[in-house]
Amino acid sequence: MSHLLITGGAGFIGSNFVRHVLRETDHRVTVLDRMTYAANEASLAGLDPQRFELVVGDVADAEVVDDLVRAADAVVHFAAESHNDNSLNDPWPFVHTNLIGTYTVLEAVRRHRTRFHHVSTDEVFGDLQLDDPQRFTEETPYNPSSPYSSTKAGSDLLVRAWVRSFGVEATLSNCSNNYGPYQHVEKFIPRQITNVLWGVRPKLYGEGRNVRDWIHAEDHSAAVLRILEAGAPGRTYLVGADGELDNLTVLRTILRLMGRDENDFDHVRDRAGHDLRYAIDGTRTREELGWEPCYTDFESGLGATVSWYAEHRDWWEPVKAATEAKYAEAGQ
Ligand code: NAD
Ligand code: DAU
Repeated sequence: MSHLLITGGAGFIGSNFVRHVLRETDHRVTVLDRMTYAANEASLAGLDPQRFELVVGDVADAEVVDDLVRAADAVVHFAAESHNDNSLNDPWPFVHTNLIGTYTVLEAVRRHRTRFHHVSTDEVFGDLQLDDPQRFTEETPYNPSSPYSSTKAGSDLLVRAWVRSFGVEATLSNCSNNYGPYQHVEKFIPRQITNVLWGVRPKLYGEGRNVRDWIHAEDHSAAVLRILEAGAPGRTYLVGADGELDNLTVLRTILRLMGRDENDFDHVRDRAGHDLRYAIDGTRTREELGWEPCYTDFESGLGATVSWYAEHRDWWEPVKAATEAKYAEAGQ
């Protein structure tokens, strides 16, 4: 049995990963989370206290991080400021958590010679044209667009430098857009589902031609655990589920699944510098690690996600009004 330190484990993907690890292994888990607006303690409710502990603290706090890393066999680093729109309004928290936080965790794993996995995003590669036959691979050069993606790219480069310069035993993964339960209502899919449930019209940026490559958070969790167990130190793994769809199609599918007219939505102001298309070629990860996504039918995964939000109003409703008020201020 191992003891995992999971940073950002009270957020969307981190909490899905904690549940996955507790279900699929006999590991013990400590979560380090600052409990920002993006965290929700209810996402970790009901977990076995013999195997799970939540520590509230900042990944940029060297003292807290050092104590927790010393006690762990491995660290999985999810903690980040994760929302592009917020990074356009105020980039500083992104620099603090994504860059200084990652640096702080790297210094601790370096001191204690602890196995480290860094969770990152396909956005570090920038965007593709809609008709580009190529997808992102491990060789695609970094070309991030937003304050969010540039700080994630910077954090990836720190990890690579700590591997090469200091022999830190680290792996990296760059994954595409996740969906599923426990995702904050600021993000595209939960925002539109909860708008319908809340009685307001969904909001589409621009014309909705932008393409995202969707993967269920449960499949991402399985991939991260597989990389932690079998990945080669120093390597980067791309994680995707061949789920490319444009935003208009995703929104119309949500409306149809929820019994609404497919045109019952508003076009709103587009995101500044909006990346056009992301697409992951995860062939190498699949071939080398034998990982395969289970949620291969997007519409049924999306239907289950719609049901989850309909059945968990108490989880999202307390933050819905404030989230929408912020969007209204920005004309979105
Ligand atoms: P999220 O915003 O839902 O959760 C982030 C968590 O990190 C929150 O619980 C928050 O409280 C915590 N956190 C923030 N700053 C912190 C700090 N200074 N110290 C400690 N904890 C802090 O994000 P998510 O969507 O679950 O993303 C998790 C990770 O996965 C991020 O690194 C993100 O870049 C990466 N990722 C996300 C996606 C996606 O589609 N959501 C895709 C690929 C990669
Ligand atoms: O690609 C991985 C990335 O996916 C992660 O690194 C990020 O942490 C995660 O937030 C996500 O980034 P996106 O910017 O792609 O996700 P978001 O949910 O914000 O938006 C998805 C698409 O939907 C994007 O093209 C913008 C659009 N959109 C978004 C919102 C919130 C709308 O059309 N309307 C909306 O209301």
